[in-house]
Amino acid sequence: MKIDVAAKFDVIVIGSGISGLICALELGKNNKSVCLITKEAVTESSSLYAQGGISVPLGKFDSVDKHLEDTLRAGTPLCDLKNANQIISRSIYAFEKLISYGVKFDLNPESENVLHQTKEAAHSVPRVVHVGGDASGRIITKTLIDKVCREPNISISQGTCVLSLLKDPNGNAFGVLVEDVTKNKYIVLGKNIILASGGVGQLYKYTTNPVVCTGDGIAMAYRAGVCVQDLEMIQFHPTVFLGKGDPFLVTEAIRGEGGRLKNINGEYFAKHYHELGELAPRDVLARAILAEMGKTMSGFVYLDLSTFKEEYFINRFPTIYKECLNRNIALFEKGIPVSPAAHYLIGGIKTDVFGSTNISALWAIGEVASSGFHGANRLASNSLLECIVVPHLLVERLLSIPEVELPQLESLDVDFDSNSIDDDGLKSLIKELQDRNTKAISLLRNKNTLNEHLQWLTELESKVNTNLLAFQYQVQELKNMILLSKLITKASIFRDHSLGVHYREDCKELSKEFKHSIFNENKQLSWEIQKNESELVPILK
Ligand code: SIN
Repeated sequence: MKIDVAAKFDVIVIGSGISGLICALELGKNNKSVCLITKEAVTESSSLYAQGGISVPLGKFDSVDKHLEDTLRAGTPLCDLKNANQIISRSIYAFEKLISYGVKFDLNPESENVLHQTKEAAHSVPRVVHVGGDASGRIITKTLIDKVCREPNISISQGTCVLSLLKDPNGNAFGVLVEDVTKNKYIVLGKNIILASGGVGQLYKYTTNPVVCTGDGIAMAYRAGVCVQDLEMIQFHPTVFLGKGDPFLVTEAIRGEGGRLKNINGEYFAKHYHELGELAPRDVLARAILAEMGKTMSGFVYLDLSTFKEEYFINRFPTIYKECLNRNIALFEKGIPVSPAAHYLIGGIKTDVFGSTNISALWAIGEVASSGFHGANRLASNSLLECIVVPHLLVERLLSIPEVELPQLESLDVDFDSNSIDDDGLKSLIKELQDRNTKAISLLRNKNTLNEHLQWLTELESKVNTNLLAFQYQVQELKNMILLSKLITKASIFRDHSLGVHYREDCKELSKEFKHSIFNENKQLSWEIQKNESELVPILK
């Protein structure tokens, strides 16, 4: 089928979370024509739901070295030392940039003109700056969207789904095939293409991620021959409300400021599992909660707020307070019912600290990318830090490299799979996929379940023919979800030991090997040795 070229831009940005918005804004301000493509409304992204804040080493008790050390300890042993150092070293610059956009960070209620910095798991000092109490993501996103909408060099295509990346015969990225809200398909050409399309939370039954997070960016990149790494590294957030209505995150900052976990029998249990109790690494705490839920045969444990003054809590965590009120949760009496849910993809498209991939003119930033900053276990609030730092590094890089010529093209032939699936069929397939993924590739994994799951996915894949692009976008999204589930399952089988957030019940002892799992450009899975091993060891001693 012939598809027309509809528009040409200097840069195409796919995804409207914080990293995509900063890139678009800074490029627009530097006279680059930018097309910002987003699957739903421009407001919908994981960034919007981020509560905790941004980790920035400010203040006299903190430093870049200390922040780096905490990052490396949490992510041990897979952090890329050089990239982590570069990101943290640029954190204050990026933080001040946010202030220049108009973001007003919360001050300490007890001392005027001093920022409030809170503590989250595995940070050695209070380091996390926040906005609107627990509304950091929402307010930063809104501030950026206001600016992006006023920037004349940026065109925003909302409700537009990218079906695939286009490469020229030399293997360089030069455009995307999209479907818009009216179901029109067309091609957009771009001298550079930035993937900022977020994670994969929707592969699971329970997640903190919005419905757009179906792994499309990684799936299309993998199909185009982009290297992806450490897909088995998926972080589960320990405390998510999963009861009546939509799930909502219950920020770790509550535990950082005194919230305690108790099981439904009223027993505080966190210290039985780790000396750091409520501030133990997220994976340890999430598994502890699962164990307590199993022991008490309950679907949740409580986050007890009895250490808080009610008025303080309401002002400090207004979003969570409102969510609880809307659901009639007696938060100050019993606590907030919480359980673990899929939260953050640590692995992803293999990049350097500028977001460059192995394909020329294709870049990846934010959750879709994996620069080794987070290692095998992400330090809380380092993801928003990455989202505000890397876009500036990438924009500086793009402004310094020579511009390429776009091909003179009016249309392209594209083969589609014309099979369609009705809405009910799609919904039930997605539900089954999410249920099965939740059993096989969650917090607890084992060889037998993983192998059975891989077999089921392979059968499903052949039924839904994943080789050709789907004519119907929703089917393409399902194909992406199946592909990602399969890649995560394969990587989880391949990593036959426990490491960081990847926990194998059949091999519980932590691995001492420093190696990344990588699907290379030929889609072969292999190990790549972590290059900083000799420098990391003394720092972590
Ligand atoms: C939270 O607020 O607990 C989430 C922060 C994060 O995932 O970094």
